[in-house]
Amino acid sequence: MPLMSVENLEITYMALGGRIKAVDGISFSLEQGEWMTVVGESGSGKSTLAYAIMRLVPPPGKITGGKIVFDGMNLLELDKEKLRKIRGKEIAMVFQDPMTSLDPLRRVGDQAAELFVEHEGLDMEEAKKRAEEAMRSVRLPQHVLNSYPHQLSGGQRQRVMIAMAMSLRPKLLIADEPTTALDVLVQEGIMELLNSMKEEGTSILLITHDLSLAANWSDRIMVMYAGRLAELGNTEDLVERPLHPYTKGLLDSVPDLWSDKEVKPIEGNPPDMRYPPPGCRFHPRCPMAMEICSKKEPPILSIDKRIVSCWLMAKEGGKA
Ligand SMILES: Nc1ncnc2c1ncn2[C@@H]1O[C@H](COP(=O)(O)OP(=O)(O)OP(=O)(O)O)[C@@H](O)[C@H]1O
Ligand SMILES: [Mg+2]
Repeated sequence: MPLMSVENLEITYMALGGRIKAVDGISFSLEQGEWMTVVGESGSGKSTLAYAIMRLVPPPGKITGGKIVFDGMNLLELDKEKLRKIRGKEIAMVFQDPMTSLDPLRRVGDQAAELFVEHEGLDMEEAKKRAEEAMRSVRLPQHVLNSYPHQLSGGQRQRVMIAMAMSLRPKLLIADEPTTALDVLVQEGIMELLNSMKEEGTSILLITHDLSLAANWSDRIMVMYAGRLAELGNTEDLVERPLHPYTKGLLDSVPDLWSDKEVKPIEGNPPDMRYPPPGCRFHPRCPMAMEICSKKEPPILSIDKRIVSCWLMAKEGGKA
């Protein structure tokens, strides 16, 4: 049984200008110890999906359909008390900007120690020792514990967040753009930390714009477009033989993956999600679009170990 399976998830923002279905019928599963990376342009619904797994979709957003089964429980049916126990301990999340989850007015050490008091019932002295260990595990110097968040660099703050997330040994770690603001070396260090968690059995769900990061580190890649799943597959397969024109477009727009190829950005922009185009949402930008693509939503096909939602593949005999 997979650690988590998401079935037909639907998340809607009831915005003033109209409803936005930011996540629209997404299904996938994640095995224990597996690293899956979600990619897609800005606004495709990646963060909304992550927040839903934490049951932290911000208002006016609501989970309007589907299921998230984690370790045998439907997360969408749990009460507040159970959720509080799961968050941090079973499922931890690292955000793009650690300042949103660190309290600027309290020392890092106190915040880290509090985690152990709350989730493991330790007394303050034991909890402080665990906080020291946690910082060591991400190679941060001990003085970080006596610092306030603003006294640390961006990379250090992100390491603190990861140290805290790792220290409770969650079954799932979600990292939403954890390295966007950081330089490449710091970024690699953070990916190595995530990988060491994976090696100890934690499942990783990484969200990024950076396809080369996804290609270098993950077992599988999920490509989202305008709230829908475009393609999902094993990293190597998907990178070497993309089936969806959107995946191909993303790969062609990255310089170092296909070094012998011309770098070509995808033309146009993702749709305004208040008025998504009919049929396949990618069709207005798709170089391969056929007549049916603007009329009917493509089926979600399963081809070998790949999932792809594209009429081109439906014609080539994929099974819906
Ligand atoms: N609080 C909100 N109210 C209304 N609409 C929202 C809200 N938050 C997000 N949305 C809409 O939901 C869609 C998905 O947003 P989301 O932040 O999940 O995308 P994303 O893939 O994480 O983008 P990025 O790569 O920029 O982080 C977007 O169209 C966005 O406009
Ligand atoms: Mg986001």
